[in-house]
Amino acid sequence: MAVKQVLRMGHPLLLQVSKPVEEFNTPALHSLIQDMFDTMDAHEGVGLAAPQIGVSQRIVVFGITHNRRYPDAGSIPMTVLINPSIQIIGDDCCFGWEGCLSVPGMRGEVARANRLIYSGFDAQGSRFERDVGDFHARVVQHEVDHLDGLLYPSRIENMSRFGFAEEIESLER
Ligand code: NI
Repeated sequence: MAVKQVLRMGHPLLLQVSKPVEEFNTPALHSLIQDMFDTMDAHEGVGLAAPQIGVSQRIVVFGITHNRRYPDAGSIPMTVLINPSIQIIGDDCCFGWEGCLSVPGMRGEVARANRLIYSGFDAQGSRFERDVGDFHARVVQHEVDHLDGLLYPSRIENMSRFGFAEEIESLER
């Protein structure tokens, strides 16, 4: 168990396309996933992608019970998602505020698909899929973007909707 340092925007590894996991249920994989959850929890994140702790593999973790940073978000089960794929359902999009542990202190408004089916593998290598919407769908899209070297600021359409969380939250209160 270890809380790892989170790479910040500007680090070149965050811009790389990560490699698929080929071996499941190994001690190294379990230990990496534990480190990812420890790091996510230590920073009160709702998700973390392996590249954010310097590992260029297609692994994301996410989940939320109650989170101070996202008080209005519904709950999402604690999930390990490896080699994910996403199928967008319909063409409904919605704008929502996002933050990222690799872009600390900032928030930006990003359009994401409202509904999707995601599939992939758990740490044991069992395939699963889920049909999700709203905040759950947003978190998955944000995390999977990390595996393709994309950070949310590159998806912001209106840069006046990007700034420091403290400033934005004081306006919306
Ligand atoms: Ni992020």
